[in-house]
Amino acid sequence: MAEMNTLHDALVDEIKDLFNAEKQMLKALPKLAKNATNPDLQEALESHLAETQEQVGRLEQIFELLDETARGKHCAGMAGIVEEGNDMLSEEAEDAVKDACIVAAAQRAEHYEIAAYGTCAAWATALGLEEVAQLLETTLEEEKAADEKLSAIAEAGINEAATAGTDSEDEDGEDEEEGEAEAEPAATSSRASASAGRGARSASGSGNGGRSAKSNGRRRAN
Ligand SMILES: [Fe+2]
Repeated sequence: MAEMNTLHDALVDEIKDLFNAEKQMLKALPKLAKNATNPDLQEALESHLAETQEQVGRLEQIFELLDETARGKHCAGMAGIVEEGNDMLSEEAEDAVKDACIVAAAQRAEHYEIAAYGTCAAWATALGLEEVAQLLETTLEEEKAADEKLSAIAEAGINEAATAGTDSEDEDGEDEEEGEAEAEPAATSSRASASAGRGARSASGSGNGGRSAKSNGRRRAN
C-alpha cells in the first residue's frame, strides 16, 4: 500500500480509486442500459455514460494538477456494486421489476461515487487545492443529478408498474430464490466486508443521495 502520511497522500489515493471506479462504470452502464426496458431509464443510463466519460477526463486533469500519473487503483467497493448488478441482470424478472432493480443497482453506484467525490472535494478544499476542488464539485453535482433523475424515473412509473402481477406467477420465482439464499453466505460476507472497508468514506458525502434512495425505497415498499 502506498504511504499515507498526509491528507494530500490520502487524496491522491482516493482519486486513483475513483479513476478505477469510473472506468468500471464505463463498462457497467451500457450493460444496465441494454437490459432496461423503460425508454426514460435507458436514456438516463446512456446520458450518464457520456457524463462518465467526461468525469474520467476531469480526473485526468486532476492527476495533472497534482503532478501524478493518471493511474487507477482497483476499487473493491465499486467492484462489489457492479458484481451485485451483474448478478441481478442474470435473474429472470418481469420487465418493470427488472427496471426497478436496474435503478437500484445504478443508484448504489451513484451513492458510492457521491460519497467519494464529496470527501475528495472537501479534502481538496481543506488543502487549498481550489482548481482540484472545483473539478470534483462539478462531477459531484453531476452524480447527484443522475441519482435524482433515477429516483424521478422510478417514481414516475417503474415502481408502480413493478407492483403489478406480483402474486400469480411468483411461486417458481420464490423457489429459485430460496435455493439461492442457501448458497449465498460467502458472497454476502465478502460484500459486507467490502462496504465496511469503505465506511469512513460513505459517512462524509452521501447526505443528498441517501434522501433520494429512501424515497425510491419507500415507493417500492407500497
Ligand atoms: Fe461517475
